[in-house]
Amino acid sequence: MTKRLHGKTCVITGAGRGIGAAIASAFVREGATVIVTDIDGAAAEREANALGAKSFHLDVSNESGWDALHSLFPRIDVLVNNAGITGFETHARPQNPEHASLSDWRDVHRVNLDGTFLGCRYAIKAMREAGAGSIINISSRSGMVGIPGAAAYASSKAAIRNHTKTVALYCAEQGLDIRCNSIHPAAVLTPMWEPMLGDGPEREANMAACVADTPMQRFGQPSEVAALCVMLASDEARYMTGTELTIDGGILAGSAAAPTRQV
Ligand SMILES: NC(=O)c1ccc[n+]([C@@H]2O[C@H](COP(=O)([O-])OP(=O)(O)OC[C@H]3O[C@@H](n4cnc5c(N)ncnc54)[C@H](O)[C@@H]3O)[C@@H](O)[C@H]2O)c1
Repeated sequence: MTKRLHGKTCVITGAGRGIGAAIASAFVREGATVIVTDIDGAAAEREANALGAKSFHLDVSNESGWDALHSLFPRIDVLVNNAGITGFETHARPQNPEHASLSDWRDVHRVNLDGTFLGCRYAIKAMREAGAGSIINISSRSGMVGIPGAAAYASSKAAIRNHTKTVALYCAEQGLDIRCNSIHPAAVLTPMWEPMLGDGPEREANMAACVADTPMQRFGQPSEVAALCVMLASDEARYMTGTELTIDGGILAGSAAAPTRQV
């Protein structure tokens, strides 16, 4: 049977670990030529070597990094803008709308939003000659609802959701078969959660608290997000553009519809 991504060249950002690494692995399994990129060049290289893929050191917020990627890979079929930060990676400063600092706000937007803008711009250029391709932007459930404790993260993810639609419409207007869609995961168990879960005795309770409002009562798996990316990257999704797919254990289907709640 032909593999679903046979013959496609795919770039994935932030693929040194977590969801990005799972996407890279699924794409390789489906026959793609994969370029694993990450700000952590060593992690990208490790992951690429394990998969038989290529690696490239890329900080998505750095415009000249994208130019360098374009020189090496001027034509691609798929870009997954996956790299993202919450702002909690390096310190536990407040990220609510009253106390967040302007520099923390900007740091999160620089990676999540500027990185996605630059990625889409690169992808359109790298797909234009073939006139077709798929851009997949990893947004979040947090881009669809307010998140008081993570204002910059939520704002940046909401902007990604909107920019996805702008890119989709722009490409269609240009007569290009370049599709652009966003994926909105809720809690997916990756290293991103580690600073919030801790590794002490409170870890289990923290994990349960994180999914208390999720109807399916569990974290998602990176491979479950990767499966959606395979579909959007493949020709099976050739009529899908400008859309948003949630993968969230049901949380956005209702208003915090915990299964224990009776009314
Ligand atoms: N894990 C979740 O629960 C969840 C939920 C919704 C959305 N998301 C989104 O999914 C994406 C992946 O999340 P994850 O959980 O795998 O995160 P993660 O922290 O485990 O991995 C993120 C990767 O991105 C890389 N990265 C960070 N800054 C970068 C930059 N400037 N340039 C390039 N790479 C950079 C990191 O080195 C790391 O390898 C993110 O956009 C995140 O916002 C995650």
